[in-house]
Amino acid sequence: MGREQGSADKTRALRALAIAGAVTALASTSPAAHAQPAITGDDQPQSRILGGSGADTQEAPWAVALTDRYGNHFCGGTLIRAGEVVTAAHCAHDPLTGAERSPSDLKVVAGRTDLRSSEGTEAEVDSVWVHPQYEDFTTGDDLAVLKLSTPLPQRPLPVVEPGDESPYRPGAPARVYGWGRTSEDGPASDTLRSVEVPVAPDESCRSAYPNYDPSSMFCAGYPEGGRDACAGDSGGPIVADGRLIGVVSYGTGCGRPGTPGVYTRLSHYAP
Ligand code: ARG
Repeated sequence: MGREQGSADKTRALRALAIAGAVTALASTSPAAHAQPAITGDDQPQSRILGGSGADTQEAPWAVALTDRYGNHFCGGTLIRAGEVVTAAHCAHDPLTGAERSPSDLKVVAGRTDLRSSEGTEAEVDSVWVHPQYEDFTTGDDLAVLKLSTPLPQRPLPVVEPGDESPYRPGAPARVYGWGRTSEDGPASDTLRSVEVPVAPDESCRSAYPNYDPSSMFCAGYPEGGRDACAGDSGGPIVADGRLIGVVSYGTGCGRPGTPGVYTRLSHYAP
């Protein structure tokens, strides 16, 4: 009897634990939980916001890092010709003053998987073209092209043809690359990472972002979140079928459920 009583107690205790576990799991998917980095430990695979894996500049030679004059990484970019890098217009502006960065405050680093190393090639910027209609990233046209002083030896990535909407079908796979944060409140990554994210339907994008413009933007990510670009990835590539289809532009937080990442839709722009 005493034994049976004991095992019934154990069962009860286990059940209580299971319920507590379910409550914890629910709590950690609520939006408020995302503001608390303490809950999202690195030991929980689902809570890694970028949710991706290591990549390198051998497989992605066209993925470049942008640094300021002191060598601090702040954005990504894509080599589309030997002397041309596509990035976001907001990356070509000083975040403090809002003024356009001078070419001397922009450097392109190619072929350097680990930004702590000195491998690869650095290129100076000769001139910066910013989309003339750009105001801020929420209104679109978040696109800039850096003309380099010297061509880079790394293999460039072709850009989607203007008007080719086939890569943007909802659910179509795409891969985003960058040295940005691996969690919403964590530090940026020293090494290149990438994650696959499906193109999201326009409705899910519009419900997350009131200014969403489907002709010049698209969204990518899973409804449940967990895989996304993050701060520091801006300006970098999202790739499908060996072509550059978009530029990392913005998002609310990183990898949150219901708020996919927003990208500049490159099919909308002439070469
Ligand atoms: N604007 C950010 C940057 O400066 C990139 C945001 C991308 N965020 C996202 N959740 N997809 O790096």
